[in-house]
Amino acid sequence: MNLVFATHNPNKLSEVKELLQNSISLKGLDEIGCFSEIPETGNTIEVNATQKSSFVANKYQINCFADDTGLEVEYLNGEPGVYSARYAGEAKDPNANIELLLSNLKGVENRKARFKTVISLIINNEEFLFKGIVNGVISESPIGSKGFGYDPIFIPDGYTKTFAEMDFEVKNTISHRALAVNKLIGFLNQL
Ligand code: IMP
Repeated sequence: MNLVFATHNPNKLSEVKELLQNSISLKGLDEIGCFSEIPETGNTIEVNATQKSSFVANKYQINCFADDTGLEVEYLNGEPGVYSARYAGEAKDPNANIELLLSNLKGVENRKARFKTVISLIINNEEFLFKGIVNGVISESPIGSKGFGYDPIFIPDGYTKTFAEMDFEVKNTISHRALAVNKLIGFLNQL
């Protein structure tokens, strides 16, 4: 089966390719000649994932999946959520995002948060959703230099370290994205 992952990110693509059986030929957007940004204008992570997968499935008439991820902070009513990448502005600066989030949580005791990844898969015009959630807390200040995005301020439940202090292999066994991708892979490999 031919399948497209609606991403321009080569790292995300090769990660999933390695886990798939040979019966599935996976291509990224660049490999099908799609170099434009896919619209993501929804108000929820679910809607954004669906918007991206259906845009590609419709435009290229191909089976496809797309992912969308956000950090949801309980005290901030689920913010930054869909705005995680551009929380502090269109520059999408991770340090500015972290600074803004920490200042919005200054003196706040409830620091509960969760990362959520949603994958929308469209096969023969039918949609399947796969979710991965990791609960945790927001630290008082950034710690660690690994990873990306909000990793320096996110401590997953059951751990004392931020994601940014963990080796990739460790984060990759417990992360929201890994949980969602594993569900997707399990589904695809039994088709
Ligand atoms: P995307 O949907 O994978 O592009 O993620 C949207 C935004 O969520 C990213 O730009 C990051 O700010 C944040 N994010 C997603 N996944 C992670 C993660 O594993 N660690 C830290 N931040 C993340």
